[in-house]
Amino acid sequence: MSRPAPLTLNVNGATHLVSAAADTPLLYLLRNDLALNGPKFGCGLGECGACTVLLDGMPTRACVTTAKVAVGREITTLEGLGTRAALHPVQQAFIEEQAAQCGYCLNGMIMTAKALLDRDPHPGVETIRRELSRNLCRCGTHVEIVRAVQRAAELLAAQTAAQSAVHEGARA
Ligand code: FES
Ligand code: FES
Repeated sequence: MSRPAPLTLNVNGATHLVSAAADTPLLYLLRNDLALNGPKFGCGLGECGACTVLLDGMPTRACVTTAKVAVGREITTLEGLGTRAALHPVQQAFIEEQAAQCGYCLNGMIMTAKALLDRDPHPGVETIRRELSRNLCRCGTHVEIVRAVQRAAELLAAQTAAQSAVHEGARA
């Protein structure tokens, strides 16, 4: 492992200075240095998806992504989506569809779903299944999770329609 050095990370719209070896896994810095515990440590091998964050909008496994790779990129964690008081529609949908048992996989499911819906606001069931197929859920809540992503698409569409109506009203 290389020697610790100052590194600047851009996380959830804020800049953070950390001291770390360039090959430190991003997940360790997020959880241990920045106290962002949304991303979970599951396998540590890039296999389960529990640690997923978005790097420039792309779902990325933080356990096998080094700090060096993350520098200069826009890092988004679960904490960057919404707050308890103002949940992101994807988070809201997962609650409404009760798509959790232990909940350990949900960070990865939600972050991967968010990236999918940013790219494709109306994905079909097959697309949702394909996108989430590399995120493992040991509790077997896959049916509820797929339903939650469909629900999230509906909530996002309703949110977009409401925002358009407000803009139209402002212009009238
Ligand atoms: S903990 Fe990163 S993929 Fe499993
Ligand atoms: S809800 Fe337990 S691992 Fe998915």
